[in-house]
Amino acid sequence: MKKYLILGNPLSHSLSPKLHNYWIKQNNLEGVYEAKETNEESIKEVISDIKKGEIEGMNVTVPFKRKVIPYLDELSDLANRVQSVNTVYKKDNKIIGENTDIEGFELGIKYAGFEIKNKTIFIIGAGGVVPSVLLSLINLGASKIYLSNRTLEKAQKLKILFPEIKIIDWGNLPDFDVILNATSLGLNENDTINLDLNNLGNNKLFYDIIYSPRQTKFLLTGKKLGHKIENGLMMFLFQAQLSFEIWHGIKPKVDKKIVEILEND
Ligand code: ATR
Repeated sequence: MKKYLILGNPLSHSLSPKLHNYWIKQNNLEGVYEAKETNEESIKEVISDIKKGEIEGMNVTVPFKRKVIPYLDELSDLANRVQSVNTVYKKDNKIIGENTDIEGFELGIKYAGFEIKNKTIFIIGAGGVVPSVLLSLINLGASKIYLSNRTLEKAQKLKILFPEIKIIDWGNLPDFDVILNATSLGLNENDTINLDLNNLGNNKLFYDIIYSPRQTKFLLTGKKLGHKIENGLMMFLFQAQLSFEIWHGIKPKVDKKIVEILEND
């Protein structure tokens, strides 16, 4: 039985096993996809299992998307550009790191029908997925990107990868069309982001990378104030679709049915 897994910590919220196992069945493939909640030390071990053919492919999530890089033989151009890997596979006996978050975010935004071209974006947070989101937003034609993070140093590191972003002091609010939560605040239902979002004007988009819970306090605030809201579920689905295609050579369906299955989880 071919084996796939997701490596991260924590993984209790991850929908990847459910989604990939559903697609494996739907496409009459043999295989099983498992969650491996682990620490940094076991990355090496898992990579060696991929090399030996004991594991066919792996997704990587928080907090290992960058930490996995030294253990890989090669990076795709995209993974190298953003220094972040979410998909690993073997090709010609080499262990390759790929990034499908970038295209996953773009496809999710398009699926939801949001226009990013010429829009001003305000990103809160500088976590592991932010470099991928930044490249997507640039590809989608965002005119200006502001970023704010509690720890300034992490924001400054991102500016080295993306000099076009403008860093805002934590607690300040610039003018924007889209506000994007890329902190981990919201994973716990009582988490609040300490920003006064009451006087933003109309018609903003509140986007939260978090999809579990489906509506964080941040999104509920946006909704209450009459703004559009979107969580990270479609980004999650599309990055998974692209990973699945790399491993199995088949593009699984992203449709209303699979969204419902995951929504009801
Ligand atoms: P990682 O940093 O390991 O990639 P992440 O979950 O992707 O992990 O990112 C966590 C993000 O949430 C960071 O931007 C973090 O801010 P710091 O860089 O200052 O740690 C942010 N975050 C987490 N808890 C926070 C809090 N209580 N207030 C503000 N930001 C917080």
